[in-house]
Amino acid sequence: MHTIKNITCIGAGYVGGPTMSVIAQKNPDIKVTVVDLNKTRIDAWNSDDLSLLPIYEPGLDSVVKEARNRNLFFSTDVDKAIDEADMIFISVNTPTKTYGKGKGQAADLKYIELCARQIARVAKNDKIVVEKSTLPVRTADAIKSILNNTGNGVNFHILSNPEFLAEGTAMADLENPDRVLIGGENEDAIQALVNVYAKWVPKAKIITTNLWSSELSKLVANAFLAQRVSSINSISELCEVTGANVDEVANAIGMDSRIGSKFLKASVGFGGSCFQKDILNLVYIARSYNLNEVADYWQQVISMNDHQKQRFSSNIIKTLYNTVNGKNIVFYGWAFKKDTNDTRESAAIYVADHLLDEEANIIVYDPKVSAEQVYSDLDYLGTRGPEENRRFVTVVNNPVAASKGAHAIAVLTEWDEFKSLDWKSIYANMFKPAFIFDGRNVLDKNSIVEIGFSYKSIGK
Ligand code: NAD
Ligand code: UGA
Repeated sequence: MHTIKNITCIGAGYVGGPTMSVIAQKNPDIKVTVVDLNKTRIDAWNSDDLSLLPIYEPGLDSVVKEARNRNLFFSTDVDKAIDEADMIFISVNTPTKTYGKGKGQAADLKYIELCARQIARVAKNDKIVVEKSTLPVRTADAIKSILNNTGNGVNFHILSNPEFLAEGTAMADLENPDRVLIGGENEDAIQALVNVYAKWVPKAKIITTNLWSSELSKLVANAFLAQRVSSINSISELCEVTGANVDEVANAIGMDSRIGSKFLKASVGFGGSCFQKDILNLVYIARSYNLNEVADYWQQVISMNDHQKQRFSSNIIKTLYNTVNGKNIVFYGWAFKKDTNDTRESAAIYVADHLLDEEANIIVYDPKVSAEQVYSDLDYLGTRGPEENRRFVTVVNNPVAASKGAHAIAVLTEWDEFKSLDWKSIYANMFKPAFIFDGRNVLDKNSIVEIGFSYKSIGK
């Protein structure tokens, strides 16, 4: 039986940071070291001022405060941390490929492979290697092949342990997960990881499978969740033309216990670093086995999401008398959901891009996203040059002042604070008619309309 004394996690991102903080908090007898190549990120994890942690996640600061420098450490010395570890989590990014075969669909596994090669090079004693990143089914084969061909006599056991936390609720999800999934071949190695989680997760919620079921289940879980959002968003369009109300429909269908009430909130479209990436990957895998109907089926979830984002911006343009040229449109929210500073694949980016094509001016307010991040998201799209993005997009830190001289407000993220803004002052600041496009259905229509706004939401 393996006794785990030292855990190393490669990748100090949205998954590695919070997950290892909780593992360290719950296992004070295990030394947990989180390593990353990105020195700025590691410095931020080590910052004395907990408001400077690189990730905003409610409740994260207090767990870091409790465990850091007790048995939780953040470092850039990857080799040393690999050498010391009995168990190594790989939690690096696995973005969609932007080049070569599978471009735009397959997961780019170069960072995973680099980790495997580094582990193979450094390891001097037996190690359990845990796939924490989301990976295409059968990736463990490649990792195994790299590790087992080093010829230095070290035994490696590979486990798959995908992470199911959602950003914004990561700490609660980690504290009380619906399940922990562990896939593997070696019973001792599986048991060693079960023991780590069993410190706080009931045994009945820790399920074990073979490697391939575990790898595939992660992609499938995200695909099913995203599919629900695309399904309700498709119905939102139908509601708008028939007089039905999408929230009422969601409530009515969600009360059927076979359907369930979660993930039925119509929106401007799902974002985040994973839904699109993982479905594209699923589509790519299905197609690589010539399962074209399966691939087409899941592709539709993405197509529907693209349509929803496009439909939202088109509606703004149409409502503003078919031109937004030179008009000021204020975005409330830039993050892909509330309670996170993560903007990856946020619908706001694509809505902004479309409105910028029509030469609108955009003023962005988000409580947790920096101006630097907004510009970097737009620059990354490559639709226009950095100077143009800075000329037409302004990022502000006062939501009410932002509305001065605005033609329209678009709510892109469901931050709670938007519900209680001083909407009367905002109205007074704006050109009339003063339009609100609520991409999250979060505002109270009656009080907004009473103030005088022209209010448009999703699916009503
Ligand atoms: P991230 O980009 O926030 O973090 C990844 C980190 O890995 C980066 O800081 C990067 O510098 C580091 N890194 C890359 N290569 C490295 C190397 N060779 N050595 C050391 N460090 C290296 O990514 P994330 O959001 O934490 O996602 C990580 C994985 O977890 C992805 O596969 C993702 O699909 C999956 N996942 C993410 C979430 C989420 O909510 N973000 C949830 C579940 C699963
Ligand atoms: C999602 C999954 O929920 C996690 O289980 C998974 O671990 C993670 O992806 C991952 O693999 O990265 P996350 O993307 O952080 O988590 O956040 P979600 O709450 O799933 O929201 C994703 C997007 O869907 C957001 O833009 C959100 O606003 C949108 N959404 C969600 C809706 O529009 N309607 C809903 O009903 C639910």
